[in-house]
Amino acid sequence: MMEEKSTQNLFSLEGKLAFITGGGSGIGLAIAKAFISSGARVIIAGRREEVLQEACNELGENSGYEIIDVTDFSRMPGLSKRVIAHYGRPVNVLVNNAGIHLKKFALETSPEEFENVLRTNLTGAHALNNELLPDMIEGGGGSILMISSMAAIYGIPQVIAYSAAKSGMAGMVRTLAIELGPRGVRVNALAPGFIETAISQKAMSNDPKRKEKVLSRTPLGRFGLPAEVAAAAVFLSSDAASYITGATLAVDGGNSIGF
Ligand code: NAI
Repeated sequence: MMEEKSTQNLFSLEGKLAFITGGGSGIGLAIAKAFISSGARVIIAGRREEVLQEACNELGENSGYEIIDVTDFSRMPGLSKRVIAHYGRPVNVLVNNAGIHLKKFALETSPEEFENVLRTNLTGAHALNNELLPDMIEGGGGSILMISSMAAIYGIPQVIAYSAAKSGMAGMVRTLAIELGPRGVRVNALAPGFIETAISQKAMSNDPKRKEKVLSRTPLGRFGLPAEVAAAAVFLSSDAASYITGATLAVDGGNSIGF
C-alpha cells in the first residue's frame, strides 16, 4: 500500500522478489532488466539453462534462474518452497510471460496444435499461479501480471490458438482479481502491441502486407521495444499501482484503437 511511501519511490520495486517466466529472452528479459533497475531481485524461469545463465550474467547479482517448463505441471510442486529456501522469502511479483505463437489458419490448425498453444500460454500460467500463490498470500500478498496480446483485443487472421489463449487470459485476470483481491494480491494484464522480438519477427517474416497493416493502424507509426513493455510492467508491479487490479493495459503505440 502506498501511504508510507513518498511519491518519489512509489515506482520502486525494492524489497520485492519477482519471478518471470520466459525471462531469458525478448520481453521477459527486458522486464527482468527493468525490475532490477527498479530495485527488485529477479528469478528468470525457462527451459534452457544456457540461455538463462547467459541472461543472468548480463542481469548481475540481483538475478537468479529456475529451470522450468510451464507445461510440465507434475514438476511444479515444491518450486515455491525451493525459492523460499534459496531467496529467504516467497515470490511477491509473478510475471506470466512465457508464450508460444502459431501462425496458421484455423482450418489448418489441428486440435493437438491448438491445445499445445493453450497449454503453454494459459494453463501453464494457471499451474504456476497455483504453485506460487499460497506462499505469496501468506507472505503478505503481491502482484500477478499476465502478458496478453492484441490477439485478445481484436480479430487477427492465422492466430486461432494464440488468440484463444490470450483471450482466455482476460477471463483469468478477472476471476483471479476477484478471488485474490481480498487476500492482498492484485492481478493485471499487459497487452503489448507489435514489439520487436523473435516471436514477432517470426509472425511478420515473409509477410510484408501484415507488417504494413500493423504500421498503418499504429498511430505512433513504429513497432514497440521490449523496454517499453517493461516500463509498464514495473508500474503495474509497483506500489504506484496499489489500487489497480483486474485491468488490461495496452502498450501498443495506439494500435488497438487505430483505424
Ligand atoms: P520470446 O519467444 O522471446 O519469449 C517467449 C519466452 O517464453 C521464451 O524465453 C521461451 O523460451 C519461453 N517459453 C516458451 N515456452 C515455454 C515453456 N513451455 N516453459 C517455459 N518457458 C517457455 O518472445 P517475446 O516476444 O518476448 O514474447 C513474450 C510474451 O509476450 C509472450 O507471451 C508473447 O505471446 C507476448 N507478446 C509478444 C508480442 C510481440 O510483439 N513480441 C506481442 C504481444 C504479446
